[in-house]
Amino acid sequence: LFERAELAPADPILGLTEAFSVDKRAQKVNLGVGVYLDEDGRLPLMRAVQEASERITQAARPHAYQPIDGMPAYRTAVRAMVFGESNAISDGRVVTVQSLGGTGALRVGGDLLRVLSAGPKLLVSNPSWENHRAIFSRAGFEVDTYRYYDAELKGIDFEGMIADLDAAEAGTVVVLHACCHNPTGYDLDAAQWDRVIEVLIRRSLVPFLDMAYQGFGSGVAEDGAVVERFTSSGLVFLLSTSYSKSFSLYGERVGSLSVVVEDATVAARVLSQLKTLIRTDYSNPPTEGAAIVSTVLLDEQLRSMWADELSHMRTRIQTLRTSLVAALAERGIDDMEFIAQQRGMFSYSGLPREQMVALRSEFGVYGLDSGRICVAALNDSNLGYVADAIASVRAA
Ligand code: LMR
Repeated sequence: LFERAELAPADPILGLTEAFSVDKRAQKVNLGVGVYLDEDGRLPLMRAVQEASERITQAARPHAYQPIDGMPAYRTAVRAMVFGESNAISDGRVVTVQSLGGTGALRVGGDLLRVLSAGPKLLVSNPSWENHRAIFSRAGFEVDTYRYYDAELKGIDFEGMIADLDAAEAGTVVVLHACCHNPTGYDLDAAQWDRVIEVLIRRSLVPFLDMAYQGFGSGVAEDGAVVERFTSSGLVFLLSTSYSKSFSLYGERVGSLSVVVEDATVAARVLSQLKTLIRTDYSNPPTEGAAIVSTVLLDEQLRSMWADELSHMRTRIQTLRTSLVAALAERGIDDMEFIAQQRGMFSYSGLPREQMVALRSEFGVYGLDSGRICVAALNDSNLGYVADAIASVRAA
């Protein structure tokens, strides 16, 4: 039986982390995975998170099962953060379940849509997070793309995007990055979101917003504003969130899936379907990450400490962007200023695959074959080395 198994390709993102960890070179830099590292190149333990963990440890609670849909306090806290005072909440139109990170939310959401016979066509941006296509194909969708990145313009091919959405069949599911587009770092502005919403409604498309980087664009509220645009438009839609990055809780797999539906009676039925999917998949979610996030969000002092720390991460990434542009300019590269305009953790560098491979093999600088690099993993000690490496592969 098992002899039939073929060797699957390594994951395009996490596979790089595996290769990086066995790379014996003293000088190496992992700009592959989307992980924020601090000034010393270390994964931060946020003070608010540490304080919340200590409180949880002191409470010495036994390790009970969580409800299938997750910890109630967590679900309420993240829903309030994401939807604010929206009428959709008071109308009982929002169902929120705890998920295994953003990935888990996308998969459970995809499974729900297939149970409801949505699709089977689903569109992701071109390009998109590598795992989007894999998750939704595995859930049974026919995945295709809508235009998004314009390599010439170094920006968004917005008219192309609108034309592709306009041409989509009614019922097609459309995955949209709420903020900090992964991998390009180019986001829609408010007026563009309004046009997208207009097409989604007119063409009866089903939006699935993915918001894994709330707080890394312009701020928690600012990045989340797109959600209110969707709820107030009357659209029904899905929304996945992740707290891996914004709480530096990568290994805790903590996220959420919200489904905004027609009314409260539909909400009860949708929740029952989500619970069936979760129960037959992983039964119920783990406790630790949700306990930390809800402790922080529900405590005024911890929440403001967390907001300050997140804001520091965001502004520091912006500084790293300008420092990288300056370091490249010092090495004679003056056509990469766009790095400073992009948002979130990533830069879509425009470097072709051969140069990304050379960065890895010759310099131990790991970025994705697509040209994506994680700016959030740069620091004062490795930035010059990375700029040297880029200058060298570009000159070759
Ligand atoms: C990334 O894009 O690098 C992150 O979202 C981590 C992941 O799971 O791929």
